[in-house]
Amino acid sequence: MCGIVGYLGEKNIKEVLLNGLKELEYRGYDSAGIAVLNNDRFSIFKAVGKLENLIEKTKEFQTQGFGIGIGHTRWATHGKPTEINAHPHTGEESYVVHNGIIENYAILKNMLTKAGVKFLSQTDTEVIVHLFEYYKKNTQNSFEAFEKTVQNLEGAYAILLVTKDAPDRIFFAKKGSPLLVGKSKEQEFYFASSDTAVIGEAKEVHYFDDGDYGYVSKEEIRIFDASGKEKQPHWQPLSTNKLSAQKGGFRFFMEKEIYEQATVVADTLLGRLLEDHIAFEELDETLFDQINEIKLCACGTSYHAALASSYLFERVAKVRTSVEIASEFRYKEPLLCKDTLFVVISQSGETADTLETLKMAKAAGLKTLAICNVDNSSMVRLADASILTRAGIEKGVASTKAFATQMSVLWMLSLFVAQKQNSITKEVLQEHLQTLRTLPKILEVNPSMHERIRRLSKRYLHGHGFFFIGRDIFFPLALEGALKLKEISYLHAEGYPSGEMKHGPIALADPELFTIALLPKNLLFEKSRSNIEELSARDATICVISSEVYEKADDHISIAPQPHYMQEFFEMMVALQLLSLEISVRLGNDVDMPRNLAKSVTVE
Ligand code: G6P
Repeated sequence: MCGIVGYLGEKNIKEVLLNGLKELEYRGYDSAGIAVLNNDRFSIFKAVGKLENLIEKTKEFQTQGFGIGIGHTRWATHGKPTEINAHPHTGEESYVVHNGIIENYAILKNMLTKAGVKFLSQTDTEVIVHLFEYYKKNTQNSFEAFEKTVQNLEGAYAILLVTKDAPDRIFFAKKGSPLLVGKSKEQEFYFASSDTAVIGEAKEVHYFDDGDYGYVSKEEIRIFDASGKEKQPHWQPLSTNKLSAQKGGFRFFMEKEIYEQATVVADTLLGRLLEDHIAFEELDETLFDQINEIKLCACGTSYHAALASSYLFERVAKVRTSVEIASEFRYKEPLLCKDTLFVVISQSGETADTLETLKMAKAAGLKTLAICNVDNSSMVRLADASILTRAGIEKGVASTKAFATQMSVLWMLSLFVAQKQNSITKEVLQEHLQTLRTLPKILEVNPSMHERIRRLSKRYLHGHGFFFIGRDIFFPLALEGALKLKEISYLHAEGYPSGEMKHGPIALADPELFTIALLPKNLLFEKSRSNIEELSARDATICVISSEVYEKADDHISIAPQPHYMQEFFEMMVALQLLSLEISVRLGNDVDMPRNLAKSVTVE
């Protein structure tokens, strides 16, 4: 997602900033910018799209001697990816870059507008710089103004701010979003949102804590905690391994992406999950007019998200919903009716089979919608409407956070349709909104669950196959669990509806058949338990994932008791991802780049 860099010193400031941003590219972004203050002059450059565009724009620009600069790569959340919305944002003589969300920005914007301030962008970030200048008018002391600004911000942020009045200082603040400062010699400081950006430049770094704010100048660094008490930096040597820094201390990108799910899903919900309803700014009011059916089409993990959400579209929104595997749909000579909304789901937006079905639907005159993680991808460009899932770049070939964000969007979309069709009561809607709000918390990986799964994984490295079983919406989740395991462990695994096992697969049951059983407390609990019992009676080895203890199981992965089955869905999803990860690690496989697989399949 967004990236921040900053530099104070005598090196070529432009180069330091651009090199730092380049190192943050892997996080994903859609625009970038820098602001440099050198010899009393500010120079600002912004560009939409790749960093190359910004590099091109700054080709002629050079700095001389001492100066300060800040830079940013932006992944759009509030407002479209345009140059105006790109950071740094400016007031009259100051610039700011920011990661995170200013939750009270509307109140602050209102107050500042009344005081005569003109806003240029649609971002929440712009209030920071105007608020700073507003306070500065009364104090004449930049640091005091910055301190007051920070005290009035609510939400999450990593901020760097520079102003003409203090040409030898960079102000910083951190709460909820990562920020660090680095140094290698006297009279020089680096800033970054992740240490990859300063590896090779800074020798030592200090990681700021939540609530920290302060400034650096040529002479010193001053850090204050949330209560205003000054503290000393804790410098530590910086690793020199860029790849391990990109993994944020995790062993694999997949592991990092599993742990990231809590924060990326919070982004997915942002501006969409409101007090008493769901809003999708990007959808035209008329998209659902005259629609009597929804057809969801996708491949791989995205297909599982489609299948899972079909339960919600029918149950919650009361709309007839069908699900198609894209490679099958292409050649089945389907009957397409104009009262169907055709929805493609894709992480990349480039999967050849899914893209072709979108073209087919368009040619048949259907309204189309793409649910996608990559803006400007082929599907986003082609569909009539699109919803971005905001997962950030996903590096692990086995999809995790992309699935979590797809499921969040599709769940919200089912509620959105329900609102439109008046097919949901206020009470049920409230219950879903309330449950959605808990998602970021639910998705935080519980370290003891991870450790339990790590220990358990050693018992599941052999056998003649795995069955992942579940009922209802937990059946597509079982399919996804089996797919994860196949992809990275190369063990044979199948997802099956629990109630269907007795119609064939139960013939395979013996102690060497491993069954991973999803047993939610809040949906068809008794029925699922009976299905598991049928298997345990035939001596299959059973690992139950549930908040309930089931005495006939061999193993148990415990999830927290929750009031809603969708909370259980997401918590079990994390457990399944960790289980395949740990089995794959024990087998010594390449977790991030499994054999024979590609992240984006652009061939038929
Ligand atoms: C490949 C990837 C899967 C992904 C599928 C669909 O097989 O390895 O992780 O689920 O393509 O990709 P899409 O980008 O359309 O979601």
